Amino acid sequence: MEKLTLTVNGKKVSAEVQPRTHLADFLREQVVLTGTHIGCEHGVCGACTLLIDGQPARSCITFAIACEGADVTTIEGLDDDEVMVQLRTAFSREHALQCGYCTPGMLAMARDIVRRLPNADEQRIRLELSGNLCRCTGYVGIVGAIRSVLEARKGTAAVPLPEKLGPVGSQGLASETVTADVKHEPKPIPPEAFAPTKIAPGPDLPMGKPATVINQSFTVHRPRPEVWAQFGDIASTATCMPGAKLSKPPEGGHVEAEIRIKFGPIVAQFQGELDVERDDAQFRGVAHGRGRDDRQGALVRAEVTYALAEVEGGAATRVDVTVGFTLAGPLAQFSRSGLVNDFASRLTAEFARNLEARMAGGSEAILPAEELSTVSLFFSVVWGRVKRLFARS
Ligand code: FES
Ligand code: FES
Repeated sequence: MEKLTLTVNGKKVSAEVQPRTHLADFLREQVVLTGTHIGCEHGVCGACTLLIDGQPARSCITFAIACEGADVTTIEGLDDDEVMVQLRTAFSREHALQCGYCTPGMLAMARDIVRRLPNADEQRIRLELSGNLCRCTGYVGIVGAIRSVLEARKGTAAVPLPEKLGPVGSQGLASETVTADVKHEPKPIPPEAFAPTKIAPGPDLPMGKPATVINQSFTVHRPRPEVWAQFGDIASTATCMPGAKLSKPPEGGHVEAEIRIKFGPIVAQFQGELDVERDDAQFRGVAHGRGRDDRQGALVRAEVTYALAEVEGGAATRVDVTVGFTLAGPLAQFSRSGLVNDFASRLTAEFARNLEARMAGGSEAILPAEELSTVSLFFSVVWGRVKRLFARS
């Protein structure tokens, strides 16, 4: 546990927190301010938006401990704020909320828009609000409410951004005390960090028990021997995997490849190798892989097993895949999330669709790996989770 002292809604708060506790959890669980809502916990939906040192911030991706000395304002602390009073009235009048789940974050963001951009038109408001998702109301009422407040405040000067933006708690690095507190000089990046990626024997992750295991199944409408033969053609099958590219032609069961994952704010490019063993009698295979993304400092080890079963009287094949993997480095938190399961199932669906198209001989129907719409994939995953979240509430 770490000691934390900060100001919340004008009051000094001291508490002990786990280093991993994020600010939203801290405020809700320990300070019992439940006006800050938690949606995606990935910095995407905006439900947890509040103000840190006066600037809107995602509290779900801010460690509480990083807010030492910061001035945090939650929706509860804006009860008497002049702009917030106007916004609350406008939101009610314009039907800008239904369930209200997104509303604290929307209001925090709306207040920022009104103060910072007094001449914002509809297009600008929509752009500024694009980091806040509303599942049930739609945006017409919300945008209308903000416009009406801007209209009512016509002629009010913009509140400028702080001259220097800084890390949480630094008050924009405006105070000399904070500047003097900086003890560490940034370390220069060693030249080898820019060396071309090589798959060296180590450092490596021990395979051990994988941290995350995902089971997926999909059906290919082709007989099992045909699907098995297709899987044996590693070069052709690899092109069906979104984002994957072979680095050189496979040698036996040894493959060197690159996989690029762009998932919203997460971008990773793993270079790796894979050794595939196939059991022709059992229609089963296993692949052991490892890779690294040197830019992110991330390592991955994975074991993929797959088995082909006949279905539909032999006319089709069910492919059961188990992927066990361990990630280390900054991306490791991604593997602990349920989001990774959703991501994997959509990736599998894309792979199955491409595989089916490839086997039907329609190679033009296949998206080249680089053209995968990861943006839409990302939003479909996040949107699916947001919908489920609200379905539960
Ligand atoms: S809960 Fe923080 S952005 Fe969604
Ligand atoms: S009012 Fe926005 S999610 Fe319900």
